[in-house]
Amino acid sequence: MNDQREQFRSKLGFILAAAGSAVGIGNLVGFPVNAAKSGGAAFLLVYAGFVIFICLPVMIAEMSLGRHTQRNPLGAYNAVSANSAVWKIGGWLAIITPFMIAVFYQVLTVWLLAYFVGAITGNLNAMAQPEYFSEFINSGSVFIYLAILTVIIGFVLNSGVQNGIERLAKVLMPSLLVMLLILTSFVLTLPNAMIGVKFYLIPDLAKITPSVISNALGQAFFSLSLGMGILITYGSYVAKRESITSGAKMVALVDTSVAFFAGLLILPAIFVFNPSIDTTELSTSSVSLVFTFLPKIFLSLQTTFGYFGANLFASVFFLLVFFAALTSQVSILQVPISAFQDELGFSRFKSVLSLGACAVLLVLASTVSFGMVAYFTEFTSYGGATKSFFDVVIDVFYDTILPLNGFIVCLFVIYKWRTSNFNSELKVGDDGFNGSFTQKYINFSLGTFIPVILLLVFLNTVCIKFFGFKSLFDIF
Ligand code: PFF
Repeated sequence: MNDQREQFRSKLGFILAAAGSAVGIGNLVGFPVNAAKSGGAAFLLVYAGFVIFICLPVMIAEMSLGRHTQRNPLGAYNAVSANSAVWKIGGWLAIITPFMIAVFYQVLTVWLLAYFVGAITGNLNAMAQPEYFSEFINSGSVFIYLAILTVIIGFVLNSGVQNGIERLAKVLMPSLLVMLLILTSFVLTLPNAMIGVKFYLIPDLAKITPSVISNALGQAFFSLSLGMGILITYGSYVAKRESITSGAKMVALVDTSVAFFAGLLILPAIFVFNPSIDTTELSTSSVSLVFTFLPKIFLSLQTTFGYFGANLFASVFFLLVFFAALTSQVSILQVPISAFQDELGFSRFKSVLSLGACAVLLVLASTVSFGMVAYFTEFTSYGGATKSFFDVVIDVFYDTILPLNGFIVCLFVIYKWRTSNFNSELKVGDDGFNGSFTQKYINFSLGTFIPVILLLVFLNTVCIKFFGFKSLFDIF
C-alpha cells in the first residue's frame, strides 16, 4: 500500500474525472444507435428509469466501498472479507474485466483517432464509401494510430491521478460538452431535423419489448461504467469531506445528459440525411454502422455547407468522441494499475509499463482479428457462430461478466460488508443522509431486486450468447 494515497483535489475535479470516465463511446455512439433502433423516446424512458432505480444505487455502493477501504477493487474485496477466497473472485473479476474492456475500447479509440485525422485532412468522400471501413481496419496504418494512441495514454497514466487524470478531464470534459451543444444546435436548424426530434422525443410504447429492456439496462450499466471496478477505484480517491450520494447523482446526471444530447444530434442528423429512412435499417451491427453510416451523414451536409464544411463538421464530431474515449480509456486502465501499485507494491511507472505491454499484445491480437490473421479472425466458435478474438473479448467481458460483477458487488456490500457499515460510510460528508429516502431506497433495492435482475440478465446472456438459445426461458 502507498502511505499517502492520491486524492482528487476538489469535488468538481472528482465529478469531472468520474464523468470523464463514464462519458465515452457508449454515450456518444452506443446510446443514439440503440435509441434509433429501439423506438426513440420509448428507449429513452426505459433507460432513464434504469439509471435512476438500478444503476445509481450500484454506483453508490461501488464508490463507498472504495472510499471506505481506500483500495483498488481487489484490495477492497480482500480488506472487507478478511481475504476470503470466495470474495477474492469478485475482486479479481473487477480487475480483469476493466483490463479486457480496455483492450476492446482501445481498438475502437484507434479507429476514432484515424477517422478524426481522415476528416480533418479532407478525406470524407473516401470515408463515406461502403468498403472504406473494412479496408482501413485491415491496413497497415492502424498500427501507426495504435502506436500514437498508446504513447498518449501511457503518458497520461504515468502522470498520476491529480496531474494526469484530473487535469485531462478538467480540460476535455467542458470542451466536449461545449462542442456537443454547438453541433446539436446546428443540426437542429437543418431541414427535416424536426422529424428526427419527434421520433426521438415522442414515445412509441409498442416498441418496448423484452429485448429493448435488456438493451437499455446493458447500455445504462456500461455507460455509467458500473461493474468494472472503476468507481471503487475512483471512490478511493474521494476526500472524506465529500458526499458520495450527491457526487454519484451528479455523475449520473452528466452522463445521461450527454447521452441525451448525443441522441438529439445523431437522430435528427439521420433524418436530415434521409427523411424517409427506415429506422430498423439501423438495427444491424452497431460498430461498423457508426464508422460507415456517420461519414455518409456528414458527407450529405456538403449540399448545405460545401465539402470543406462537411469535413469540418465530421472532424469536430470525431474529435469529440475521441476525447470522450480517451478519458474513459485512461480511467479503465487506472483500475488494474492501482491494483498493481497497492497489491504488488509496484511503482506507478512499473505498473503502467507492465500492464501496458500486456494490453498492447492483446490489442494487437484484436486488431488483426478482422481478417489480417486467420488464427485470430476465426478464433473459436460457440452459440452457432464463428467468433474472432475481438468478438470473444466483447461477448465474454462486455456482455456477460459486467452484469455478473454488478450482482457480486450488491451481495458483497449488503451481505458481507453489511448495510450498517455501508450506511456509516455514506454518512461521512453527508449530514442529511441518515433516515433519508435515498438511504431507505438504496438499502432495500441493493439487497433485493437489483441483484435478482442482474443475475437474470447474466443468465439470459449466457444462454443466448454461448448456448444459442433465444432466451433464458427457452431452457424450460
Ligand atoms: N462508460 C464508458 C462509455 O460509455 O463509453 C465506457 C467505460 C469507461 C467503461 C470506463 C468502463 C470504464 F471504466
